[in-house]
Amino acid sequence: MSQGSNIRADQGQPLVRLRNLSMNFGSVAAVRGINLDVLSRDFLAILGPSGCGKTTLLRMIGGFIEPSSGTIEIDGADVTRLGPERRPTNMVFQGYGLFPHMSVRQNVGYGLRIAKVPQDETDARVAEVLDLVRLRDLAERGVEQLSGGQQQRVALARALVMRPKVLLLDEPLAALDLKLRQAMQEELRRIRHEVGGTFVFVTHDQGEALGLANRIAVMEAGCVVQEGSPQEIYTQPSTRFVSTFIGEANLFPGECRGGQITLRSGGTFDAPGSDARVLVVVRPEDMHIGANATDSDIVMQGVLYDIVYLGAFVRYQVRLHDGQNVMIHSIDRTLQDTLFPGAEISFGWSSTIHRIIPDD
Ligand SMILES: Nc1ncnc2c1ncn2[C@@H]1O[C@H](COP(=O)(O)OP(=O)(O)OP(=O)(O)O)[C@@H](O)[C@H]1O
Ligand SMILES: [Mg+2]
Repeated sequence: MSQGSNIRADQGQPLVRLRNLSMNFGSVAAVRGINLDVLSRDFLAILGPSGCGKTTLLRMIGGFIEPSSGTIEIDGADVTRLGPERRPTNMVFQGYGLFPHMSVRQNVGYGLRIAKVPQDETDARVAEVLDLVRLRDLAERGVEQLSGGQQQRVALARALVMRPKVLLLDEPLAALDLKLRQAMQEELRRIRHEVGGTFVFVTHDQGEALGLANRIAVMEAGCVVQEGSPQEIYTQPSTRFVSTFIGEANLFPGECRGGQITLRSGGTFDAPGSDARVLVVVRPEDMHIGANATDSDIVMQGVLYDIVYLGAFVRYQVRLHDGQNVMIHSIDRTLQDTLFPGAEISFGWSSTIHRIIPDD
């Protein structure tokens, strides 16, 4: 990890470069021609559904699988054919892979012992990293006598103590229950802030990706389909898959002709763009109920068929005349008293806020 005056200089430089990276297991194309840069000091999330190739990609970066084709460069050096021990990376595996009969301290110090680091330096580095993950008081305990969250910290400490240039984490929080997962997210943010460095983590949990990462690469069927900041991914999804995998979305099919979009469910508005079939993407929280609209609003009518109180907001489900369902989230608690299932309502959104994507 960078120190002192280097930090600023290398901030935002590509540290890991993946070029045309592919991996085939027999006839299964697990990773297909990925081009991706991990920038120095990134906290990059690789996000996608089960089986899309996330673990395979991470294992290739870490050197645990040799790619079928393509190249991996880390810090300017081609490491494509190098094993894990010859790369400036370290990986925290899903399920942690701790040594069950060793204590916390022995687990964390293991890599340094193998690397023949002198004992006093090992002791100092282990103590430092145990402080970082707040496990100092449990150092002598066997790892089997730890909770899931504590084991997770040991796994993290064991990787961090090696001071990797790039830390790879495969579903680091998946084994934890919801409350613990949220607490560990906070911990990870703090740890990353304290040690700096570059983190790449895999998750199928969009909330985790949005909450932890400064950049997200969304994977679908072996490919990276979009990358950007959490905000870009959420507000400017580029495909149907991205718009529905990250957050919830209403998708209105329509036709763009001569700078105007006509929606299948009714409504026409001006929109630049070439003639094509399109989808208009609107987030449920960007919808409003009621007819009081401004000029930039698109308004529709439908029948309210479900109202669910979810604490922080109320979820309304509306069925349009063409059968399409629309989801509206509102934080306006007074609305709930005036609406009932079966009511015909007007609702809409501002055209300044929707996103238009190709319907392919
Ligand atoms: N060693 C292997 N041999 C054969 N096929 C494999 C192997 N490892 C992975 N695959 C296949 O490659 C594809 C991608 O698997 P991978 O484990 O990378 O997915 P993933 O995105 O990590 O999924 P999950 O979220 O379930 O962990 C899957 O179809 C999987 O069955
Ligand atoms: Mg996986």
